[in-house]
Amino acid sequence: MFKRKAVFLLALAFVLALGSSVGAGPKKIVVGFAQVGAESGWRTANTESIISEAKKRGIELMFVDGQQQQANQIKAIRSFIEQKVDIIGFSPVVTTGWEQVLREAKRAQIPVILTDRAVDCEDESLWVTLIGSDFVEEGRRAARWLVEKMNGQANIVELQGTIGSAPTIDRKKGFEEVIAAYPGMKIIRSKYGDFTRSKGKEVMEEFLRAEGNKIDALFAHNDDMAIGAIQAIEYYGLRPGVDIIIVSIDAIRAAFEAMIEGKLNCTVECNPLLGPLFFDAVEAIMAGRPVPKRIVIEEGIFPQEVARDVLPTRRY
Ligand code: AHR
Repeated sequence: MFKRKAVFLLALAFVLALGSSVGAGPKKIVVGFAQVGAESGWRTANTESIISEAKKRGIELMFVDGQQQQANQIKAIRSFIEQKVDIIGFSPVVTTGWEQVLREAKRAQIPVILTDRAVDCEDESLWVTLIGSDFVEEGRRAARWLVEKMNGQANIVELQGTIGSAPTIDRKKGFEEVIAAYPGMKIIRSKYGDFTRSKGKEVMEEFLRAEGNKIDALFAHNDDMAIGAIQAIEYYGLRPGVDIIIVSIDAIRAAFEAMIEGKLNCTVECNPLLGPLFFDAVEAIMAGRPVPKRIVIEEGIFPQEVARDVLPTRRY
C-alpha cells in the first residue's frame, strides 16, 4: 500500500514538473513605450513599426500614446516603473523637463532607450542610447536644395514643428546655418505649426494674409504641415509648387502624391521605421551586450522629378 502511494506521488511530481516546463519557455521581455502622439503620417508609421516589430520578436509591449503632452508621457513612464518593466523606450515630445522621471527609472534600475527625439539633460547616464535621425542634417539638406532651386534669392516662410521639440530646434538650426551664407535667402515669417496638417494650414493662411505675393518659398518642418499649407495657398489663389516653391521633411507617401501633382517640390527623408533598431537595442541590453550611445538612421532626399519612380517603393 505504502509502495503504491509512493509510486503515485512520484508520478504526480513528474507530471507537474513536465507541465511547468512545457509552455513556460524563457521569460518574455517586457518593454514600456511612451509615444509622442499621432500628430502626423510619420508618427503613425513609427508607431506601426514599433508595435509590429515587438510582435514579430515575441516581446511584450506596453504602449501609451502621449497625445503630444509631456505630462502624459511622464505619467506613462512612472507607471512602467511601477509595473517593473524590463526596459523603457520613449520619444520625448520636448527636450527639457525629463531629469526627475529619468532618475526614478535609474533608481529602479530600468534602462531607458530614447527613440526619434533627444532630451536636453546634462547627465547622459540617464539613458542608454538615442536611436533616430540627424535632424540638423535634415534642415541643412532642405536648405541646400532650396538655395539651388532659388538661385540664392528667396523670401521664405517657415512652418516650425512643436515648440521645444528636438526636430524643430535642430531642423531650424541646420536650415539657418546653410542659408546664412546667402544674403538673398531671407526668412520673412516663422511660426510653430505643431507638425499637424490643420495647424500648417492655419499658420500658412496667416503668412499669406501678412505677406501675400511676397512669399517665394515655404520651408515646412514636416510633410503634413506642407500639405495643410498647400490647401491654404490654393484657397488664396496661388499655385503651390509653382508660385510658391515648397520643401518639407519626412518623405511620407502623401508627399510623393503631392509632388506628382506638382504641388510640392522636394521632401527630405526622415525615416520612421525605427522598430527593428529599437528592439535590436532592447535585446542587446537584455543580453548584456554593449550598445552605442547614438544610433543614426540613414536618409535621403527626394525632389519632385523622382517622385513618380520612387512612390511605388515607399513603405510609409
Ligand atoms: O520627430 C520626428 C517628427 O515628428 C517628424 O518629422 C514629424 O512628422 C513628427 O511629428
